[in-house]
Amino acid sequence: MVGEAQVRAKELFGDKPNLKFEAKDLESIDGKYNTVICVDVLIHYPREDAAKMIAHLASLSEDRLILSFAPKTFFLTILKKIGEFFPGPSKTTRAYQHKEVEIRQMFIDNGFAIARTEMTSTSFYYSRLIEAVRLR
Ligand SMILES: C[S@@+](CC[C@H](N)C(=O)[O-])C[C@H]1O[C@@H](n2cnc3c(N)ncnc32)[C@H](O)[C@@H]1O
Repeated sequence: MVGEAQVRAKELFGDKPNLKFEAKDLESIDGKYNTVICVDVLIHYPREDAAKMIAHLASLSEDRLILSFAPKTFFLTILKKIGEFFPGPSKTTRAYQHKEVEIRQMFIDNGFAIARTEMTSTSFYYSRLIEAVRLR
């Protein structure tokens, strides 16, 4: 993905912008950033670990935090259960859904206010995207 990002950035912007792409473990990444974006990673983390991950990512962000997660709703829980019936190696049992109200609280607990929410969905995939801004 880093390679693909480099190719696409060059196509879009040429050599001008000072963009750096690296593969890193999010749990040990450090530094300070204007915006931290983390797309669909929380699906790998149960609630307590998701809370630690959000706290860590929030600590890296000076202004904005954009995260997405698989929402735990009645409909999507049923859909996941149906998926688990299908034979073959399945990732569904390792996919953690999260209640939006809990994720929102994690943002608030780390000094951020919710600015925008969106739903990403295709015929087989759903995730909730939240943009939050640091409270001053
Ligand atoms: C559902 S994929 C989403 C990938 C990508 N963000 C996207 O939107 O296409 C989740 C990814 O999170 C990665 N991941 C899980 N924990 C991670 C961590 N601690 N640091 C970096 N990547 C992690 C997994 O390896 C996997 O590639």
